Amino acid sequence: MKVTIVGAGAVGATTADNLIRRNVAEEIVLLDIKEGFAEGKAQDMAQTAALLGFESKIKGVTNDYLSTAGSTVAVITSGIPRKPGMTREELIGTNANIVKSVVENLVKHSPDIIIVIVSNPMDTMTYLALKSSGLPKNRIIGMGGTLDSARFKYQLSEKLNASAADLNAIVIGGHGDTTMIPLIKHSTWNSIPVTDFLTPEEQGEIVHKTMVGGATLTSLIGTSAWYAPGAATAAVVESIVRDQGKLFTASVYLEGEFGQEDINLGVPVIINKKGWDRIVPIQLDEEDKEKFNKSAEAVRTMNNVLKE
Ligand code: NAI
Repeated sequence: MKVTIVGAGAVGATTADNLIRRNVAEEIVLLDIKEGFAEGKAQDMAQTAALLGFESKIKGVTNDYLSTAGSTVAVITSGIPRKPGMTREELIGTNANIVKSVVENLVKHSPDIIIVIVSNPMDTMTYLALKSSGLPKNRIIGMGGTLDSARFKYQLSEKLNASAADLNAIVIGGHGDTTMIPLIKHSTWNSIPVTDFLTPEEQGEIVHKTMVGGATLTSLIGTSAWYAPGAATAAVVESIVRDQGKLFTASVYLEGEFGQEDINLGVPVIINKKGWDRIVPIQLDEEDKEKFNKSAEAVRTMNNVLKE
């Protein structure tokens, strides 16, 4: 099984590193536009095989899409990341052109491919990939909610002094500082509602810290983060390749679900060898429904920029 990763930068390379360490695919192709960049990163990673004991092969290429032929899954991380003070939405112009041409090249050589979009603004890039590729909706997945949910669990685990692995918590809606919705009322710690342990002020603080989680890291590091984004992307890819059927929040095409249509937004889905297989319905209360609709409005405004 072959997995292609487009963009050998921080997130793309970290995704590849997570995948090879776990032998998720026999072959990984890392592709970048920068001459020699993906080749170098791939060789560096391949040289860890003797130390870490994995069998996966990784190959780096410069813009050579023929090498990606026959890929089961591709991850698109190509584009520019945000700098301190920038929103994900400000990346739209540059990244839209990149994502569109990358999708076209991938589909040409692997018509049955499943594409995982990471490039920001992610929900809009996922919508663009779906519309421009003509692929069935289940084969286009936007990765954002998986990362945001991991960050939400981190904030909860810090406050509760609990293991993140014991927490069930998801973030739905758009993948933006103001559009994501951490569902605190639905979150549990080993089946017990976390709200039983937290004051309303503490709940508000956790939700806020989750929403600005990416921006906080960007201001600390000077560019956007990559460890958690790479691990989250690899988890989604692994669920496809190994047909695990895990539940993730991912940006998928809605046709009436959650009261929205003709838009890609983060909702809970089952991910397996078909791509995203089905949406898992959740009962939102009026407050969360309103937040979801506002989030959709903001993402739709961004999608409309593509049409200008
Ligand atoms: P980076 O700058 O480290 O890597 C991007 C790579 O894409 C560079 O190596 C660049 O040469 C390459 N590239 C640019 N145009 C290309 C093209 N046409 N074909 C192939 N390669 C091309 O950036 P980083 O930090 O890896 O972030 C990548 C993207 O992912 C950004 O848009 C960022 O905002 C987004 N991101 C999304 C997250 C999510 O949860 N959805 C989380 C973190 C980052």
